[in-house]
Amino acid sequence: MSGADGYVTELPYTLGYYPELDPRSVSNTLQVLAVTPPKIEVACELGFGQGLSLAIHAVAGDCEWWGNDLLPEHLATVRELTQGLAAL
Ligand SMILES: C[S@@+](CC[C@H](N)C(=O)[O-])C[C@H]1O[C@@H](n2cnc3c(N)ncnc32)[C@H](O)[C@@H]1O
Repeated sequence: MSGADGYVTELPYTLGYYPELDPRSVSNTLQVLAVTPPKIEVACELGFGQGLSLAIHAVAGDCEWWGNDLLPEHLATVRELTQGLAAL
């Protein structure tokens, strides 16, 4: 696949949710470390896999989400998961 640069493209990535990618989790971690977190208004997941984390964070969070992925089947999955939200 063009642009894969050695990445395995024959199989889709596993479907999983990763709460540590939630901007609120990042903010909480910074606060625990006594660092004032910036207000995160726009977020981007580079290589979102099946897109479950991106979809949950876009629906449940309060910031604008962007993302990309190499595999067309990943794009199809995240489009289905985020149907009704702003176009990806
Ligand atoms: C290790 S997975 C992480 C998936 C997701 N972020 C997660 O945490 O579940 C890496 C993802 O990056 C995508 N990827 C790899 N190289 C890429 C590239 N050059 N451009 C866009 N996406 C890429 C793969 O298709 C794969 O879905």
